[in-house]
Amino acid sequence: MILAPSILAADFGHLAEEIARAEQGGARLVHLDVMDGHFVPNLTMGPAVVKAVRRATRLPLDVHLMIQNADLYVDAFADAGANWVSLHVEALPHLQRAVAHLRERGLKAGVALNPSTPLVSVEEIAPELDYVVVMSVNPGFGGQKFLPGSLDKVRRMRDLLRRRGLAAQIEVDGGVDEGNVKLLLEAGADVLVAGTSVFGGGDPAASARRLLEAAR
Ligand code: DX5
Ligand code: ZN
Repeated sequence: MILAPSILAADFGHLAEEIARAEQGGARLVHLDVMDGHFVPNLTMGPAVVKAVRRATRLPLDVHLMIQNADLYVDAFADAGANWVSLHVEALPHLQRAVAHLRERGLKAGVALNPSTPLVSVEEIAPELDYVVVMSVNPGFGGQKFLPGSLDKVRRMRDLLRRRGLAAQIEVDGGVDEGNVKLLLEAGADVLVAGTSVFGGGDPAASARRLLEAAR
């Protein structure tokens, strides 16, 4: 299992320290939520913050683009130091071209699905993906409640990938906590994003450790 803390829930005034603590607790990937106020009703960060985080850690950076016309910004995020980039299937009519561009830039290519988006919408592109992001909340905000139907969606996604003999990893994003990590792994998840459950309490290192412990 790869634990990917989402810095959306971290103290933005002390990002470097917060990320270092999460890494000490066992985090292996840093998740950055980019929102544009159009695709989702919230504004967060852009390439400048990704660049600052790049300087603050050696962990790979997983940039989740919740923005319209995401294809126009991929190069800026790649230049800023992104390693993994996920695009929303709902936001891009020419998804295959955008995914091909991620790969040309040497990025790990991911596609994210909103809770109401059916699995079939990634079936054609799945062979070209390094990972699929199953959203377990409606994107836009940290700290939301895990949608219980997501567990079965992860299971069905795992089945789909297995049936087709595809190697894409499954990332789950939203409302991940000590109560569902184990179930998510059993359902077939590989990467778990956790914002509030890592940064919402006192010590990110202890919180990350508790999540990894609950996953065993
Ligand atoms: C939701 C974001 C998530 C979010 C996760 O729009 O994509 O990555 O920050 O935060 P928690 O773990 O608090 O649900
Ligand atoms: Zn996210």
